[in-house]
Amino acid sequence: MDAPESPLAIVILAAGQGTRMQSALPKVLHPIAGRPMIAQVLAVAERLAPAKIVTVVAPGMDRVTAAVAPHPTAVQTRPLGTAHALLAAAEVLADDLAAGADVLVLYGDGPLIAETTLSAMLAKRRDADFVWLAVRPPDPTGYGRLIREEGKLQRIVEEKDASPEERREGLVWGGLLAGRGRRLFELASRIDNRNAKGEFYLTALVSLGNEAGAVSTLCERPLEEVLGVNSRRELAAAEAVMQRRLRLAAMENGVTLVAPESVIFSWDTRLAADVTVEANVVFGPGVTVAGGSVIRSFSHLEGVSVGANATVGPFARLRPGTELGDEVHIGNFVEVKASHIECGAKANHLSYIGDATVGAAANIGAGTVTANYNGVYKSRSEIGAGASVGSNTVLVAPVRLGAGAIAGAGSVLTEDVPDGAIAVARAKPSVTPRAAERYRARLRKEKIR
Ligand code: UD1
Ligand code: CA
Repeated sequence: MDAPESPLAIVILAAGQGTRMQSALPKVLHPIAGRPMIAQVLAVAERLAPAKIVTVVAPGMDRVTAAVAPHPTAVQTRPLGTAHALLAAAEVLADDLAAGADVLVLYGDGPLIAETTLSAMLAKRRDADFVWLAVRPPDPTGYGRLIREEGKLQRIVEEKDASPEERREGLVWGGLLAGRGRRLFELASRIDNRNAKGEFYLTALVSLGNEAGAVSTLCERPLEEVLGVNSRRELAAAEAVMQRRLRLAAMENGVTLVAPESVIFSWDTRLAADVTVEANVVFGPGVTVAGGSVIRSFSHLEGVSVGANATVGPFARLRPGTELGDEVHIGNFVEVKASHIECGAKANHLSYIGDATVGAAANIGAGTVTANYNGVYKSRSEIGAGASVGSNTVLVAPVRLGAGAIAGAGSVLTEDVPDGAIAVARAKPSVTPRAAERYRARLRKEKIR
C-alpha cells in the first residue's frame, strides 16, 4: 500500500528587487497575458490544492502582499540570498512543517511554470528528500551547474564559484525545488554565506544534504517553463511564450485564428468552438465569446461578453461592461461601453454607445452618439426594441427612445420618445433658388477689396 500523501505547502520567492526592470512597479506585478506574474504563479500553485501558499516579499512590498491576498506573505528583511529568503517563511509554515508537509519552492518571476511539472516533481519527491528541477539552456551562463558523479547529484555550483570545467556543465538548476519540508528547513538553517557573492545560497542544500544522508534527485524539464523575467526584454519573451500557449489552446478548443501570431489573448479569454478571429485582434481581460461569432480585424475587446453568431468589427472597440446578444452586429469605428445590446441589434458605423440599453433588432445609424456624460455624472440611454436611430443622432442621456420608434437623422434627442413615435429634432433646411452664384459673386468682390 502506498504511504499516505504528505500535505503540501508552497513557498514563492519574490523578495528580489528586480532592479533590471527599471520600474517603480515590483517585478512580480508586471503583467503576463493581462495579469500580474505573481497571480499567474499563484494560479498554477492553487491547482495543486496545497494547505498553504506563502509568498516571500521584501519590506515595503505592500502591493505584492495585496496581490496575493488572502494567501499570506512572509517578509525577508534583507536580501541575503535564496536560502535566507526561504527561511523567512519558516514561521508562517510552522504548523505545516510540524504536520510533515512537503514543500515546493517556486519563483515569483517564473510565470511560465506548468502544473504538470510541479506534479512530476512532487511525484518524484516520494523517492527522494529533495527534487531539483533541471534544465538544459543553450547557454548555461548565470545558472547553478548541477554537478553529478555516477549519475548522483553531488552539488550545485553557482556561476561565480564554478571552475572553468564546472562551467562547461550544461545541465543547470531551473530554480524549483520540492523537498521534505522539515528536512529542507533544518538543513537550510545550517547554510552559510561563504561563497563568491557572500549570499546564503539555497543550492548549498545539496552537499549539506548529502553529508546528512538526504537524497537529492533531478527532474529534467523543457527550459521554457523556467524562463525567468529579470528585464523588460525577458518580460516580452515570457509574454510571447504565454501568447503562443493561449493561441494553441484556443485552436485546440475549436477556434479559428486566421493569423494566430497577430491575436493577443488575456489569461482568461474564453472563446467557444466555432468562433473565428481575424488578424490583429486584442482581447483584454474578461472576454467571453459564444459560438459562431466572428471577431473581425483590428478589434479591441475588454470586459465583454459576446453572444452567438455575432459580428464584431473590423475596427470595433468594446469596453468593459458590454454585453452583446446573439446575432448582434457591431461594425467599423463603433465604440461600445457598459451597454447591453440585445439580440439582432445593429450598430454598423462610426458610433459611440455608452451606458445604454439597445433593444432587440434595433438599428443604430452611422454616427449615432449617446451623450452619457454632462461633465459631472453619467446617465443611461435606452433604445427600445425594433427602434431606428437615424444617422448622426445624439441621445442626450438620460433619455429613452421607445420601442419601434424612429429618430430622424441628425436629431438631438433631449426628451423621451414614446413607443412607435417619430421624433425629428433638427433645423428645417432653408432653400433659396439660384442663390449660389449671387453669393459667390459677393465673395469675389470682398476678396478684391
Ligand atoms: C538562482 C540559483 C541558481 C539557479 C537560478 C535559476 C541560488 C543561489 N542560485 O540564481 O542556481 O540556476 O536561480 O533561475 O539559489 N530571492 C529572494 N531573496 C533573496 C534572493 C533571491 O526572494 O535574498 C528570490 C528572487 O526574487 C528570485 C529568486 O529568489 O525570485 C531567485 O533569485 P536570483 O537572485 O534571481 O537567483 P539567481 O542568481 O538567478
Ligand atoms: Ca534570476
